[in-house]
Amino acid sequence: MQLTNEELKAKIGELKEKLSVTVVAHFYQRDEVFEMADITGDSLELAQRTKDDDSEFVVFCGVGFMGQSVKVLSPKKRVVMPKLACCAMAKMIDGIYYDQSIAFLEANGVSKSNILPITYINSNADVKAKVGEMGGLVCTSSNAKKIITSALKEGKKILFVPDRCLGQNIANQMGLKSMVIGQGGDPKEADIICYDGFCSVHQLFSVEDIEYYRNKYPGILIATHPECDPAVCDASDFVGSTSQLIKYIKELPEDQKVAVGTEFNMVNRLRPKNTYVLSSTKPECPTMNETTLEDLYTALKSIEEGNPINEIEVDETTQKWAKIALERMLAL
Ligand code: 13P
Ligand code: SF4
Repeated sequence: MQLTNEELKAKIGELKEKLSVTVVAHFYQRDEVFEMADITGDSLELAQRTKDDDSEFVVFCGVGFMGQSVKVLSPKKRVVMPKLACCAMAKMIDGIYYDQSIAFLEANGVSKSNILPITYINSNADVKAKVGEMGGLVCTSSNAKKIITSALKEGKKILFVPDRCLGQNIANQMGLKSMVIGQGGDPKEADIICYDGFCSVHQLFSVEDIEYYRNKYPGILIATHPECDPAVCDASDFVGSTSQLIKYIKELPEDQKVAVGTEFNMVNRLRPKNTYVLSSTKPECPTMNETTLEDLYTALKSIEEGNPINEIEVDETTQKWAKIALERMLAL
């Protein structure tokens, strides 16, 4: 017989009491899963806070690269993911495509020793390891500007993977020249060379959506995530990571209308009134939404039975270099 959500929540609560586990959830998780978490946050907060957590198991409700980052930073910790869901953007690059990007730059007159790679945290451990091995580091959407500012001090060209939008948005904010591999341009002339990856959810927001809301509700504010297209971010009143968006919106006067360009579940949880989802198409992240209460219960039960499912493993060499890339970010 199928259990109701309330029954599942009660069982999950009992298992959490009994076991040495910390349940972690990203802001984009379904409401009922999000409610059961001990730690919630954006990708930077989750990486920082789970690192210092002392329970034996981290049960991570999110997408693959997030659980992997916990394992990389704390290899002794056992990390279980109720669903092995993968961020579509993270899937757009692997070690081979990373090497091809380096080869492209070399073929176009930029030597490997003159490249400092930065990978968005939305990438798998093998890409983070390649970046770490080349002296580079990781960034998230909340610290990308700080990381790029610091990286520029080395006087090298930045290869930014995999999100072209985040790379271009930061370059625009900082008045730097950027280009996207495969879309023309001379890497010798660019400060930031972006890989051509993107988030299909954040591509749904358009300048036309912004115009629609501004015409319908004069005075409305537009707040977007930096994974949106640069034209959308340029036309916005505020651009920020999920945590930065939450802070910005919670501090608005109650009667101030705002349309938000980020994932559906998070926007709906923000504020009871005067908050709109900035798209006529539902911007729900399919992989973030794969994890259900039932999956969380099954994962906890498997830990109780001594046979954890979906446990994250990272090989030693990948772990070593990916950790270096992540720790360079955390040190900043
Ligand atoms: P944050 O770094 O803002 O949590 O974003 C992660 C993500 O996947 C956004 O789509
Ligand atoms: Fe990946 Fe986009 Fe989903 Fe974020 S919203 S997890 S970038 S697919």
